[in-house]
Amino acid sequence: MSKKSVLVTGAGGFIGFHLVNYLKDRGYWVRGVDIKDPEYQASAADEFRILDLREMDDCREAVQGMDEVYNLAADMGGIGYISGAHASITFNNTMISAQMLKAAYDAKVQRFLFSSSACVYPQYLQDVPSVVPLKEDDAFPADPEPGYGLEKLYTEKLCEYFTQDYGFQTRLVRFHNVYGPLGTWDGGKEKAPAAICRKVAMAKSGETIEVWGDGKQTRSFMYIDDCVEGIYRIMRSDYSGPLNLGTDELVDVSGLVDIIAGISGKTIHKRFNTNRPQGVRGRNSDNNRLREVLGWEPSIHLSQGLIPTYAWISGEVKARAEREAGIAHIPTIAAQ
Ligand code: NAD
Ligand code: GDD
Repeated sequence: MSKKSVLVTGAGGFIGFHLVNYLKDRGYWVRGVDIKDPEYQASAADEFRILDLREMDDCREAVQGMDEVYNLAADMGGIGYISGAHASITFNNTMISAQMLKAAYDAKVQRFLFSSSACVYPQYLQDVPSVVPLKEDDAFPADPEPGYGLEKLYTEKLCEYFTQDYGFQTRLVRFHNVYGPLGTWDGGKEKAPAAICRKVAMAKSGETIEVWGDGKQTRSFMYIDDCVEGIYRIMRSDYSGPLNLGTDELVDVSGLVDIIAGISGKTIHKRFNTNRPQGVRGRNSDNNRLREVLGWEPSIHLSQGLIPTYAWISGEVKARAEREAGIAHIPTIAAQ
């Protein structure tokens, strides 16, 4: 029997990069597609194509000959990014998601996985730090995160309609804040775990870092290894409704800083800034349905997963500092 061929879109990004490795290890033939190359390491994909999935022709090229599609491509970032560019994010993601779904259906792909988000959940259910974990059915009546979350919710429905009307096999995964090595750690799109690792790595012991909000807002965070394992298990399952994929280990942001400071071995002081973006006040994942469907759930604790994450980001910070110092030390050639 020939190998199954799968497409990972967003393969130049954080989760897609790791998912390609995971699928290669399981013997799949993998095509990676992204609008850019991976930032930190070369992709392990059998074939990597640079395509712009806002264009239907590029979507059709991407899906050609594929048995299954993991659609991870999106204009995406942490709360600072997604709350500051509603028009472009919503437009870009609407074009990518709707056209990839249609192209995959037309190409007779067997299964299509859509990467949704905890941002689909109503803001009115996330207004206190001691939040009740969010169940899949809580998404309606809808009041999602503006722009980015609204598109995710709408595309989930579009996938459901393709299943109902055409029998197209879709899988809907609602990720809760994912972190780990090779995730964006600088430049404005980084999420809290990576941003705080960077700030701690750049600080000397005894210094103060800026933390957005008052530190009491809560989240659950999922390590990348659990994330790719969960994606694969959901794809292989028979369940086509939306599923949370996250941990239910709730932590406040101040506590997150303390864990990272502890890993670094530094004494770190916090300056809270409530003028920076904060998103919802509290968010946690209810994993009952995930456990029922898969008999599995993410299990890597935050204090474990942050160790390799901090090690990688502090290495990047150091390497960048050395590069900048190296460039500064190149003697300038005097004009003749
Ligand atoms: P990422 O930004 O690292 O990866 C997304 C990739 O999509 C990027 O490499 C980007 O270049 C690519 N992309 C954007 N526009 C494109 C286009 N027009 N054509 C082709 N490629 C394009 O983000 P990630 O963390 O790897 O997220 C993957 C998916 O998971 C996204 O759909 C995201 O919305 C979803 N998600 C992630 C998280 C998280 O915490 N990381 C949480 C919820 C949902
Ligand atoms: N990004 C960032 N940077 N957040 C910080 C920082 C910092 O330096 N300091 C504190 N925070 C706080 C934010 O104010 C927010 O309250 C919390 O940490 C989490 O921020 P993010 O990780 O940026 O985003 P989020 O959890 O609100 O939303 C993210 O997760 C969703 C899925 O759960 C985003 O990445 C969404 O795109 C994603 O869908």
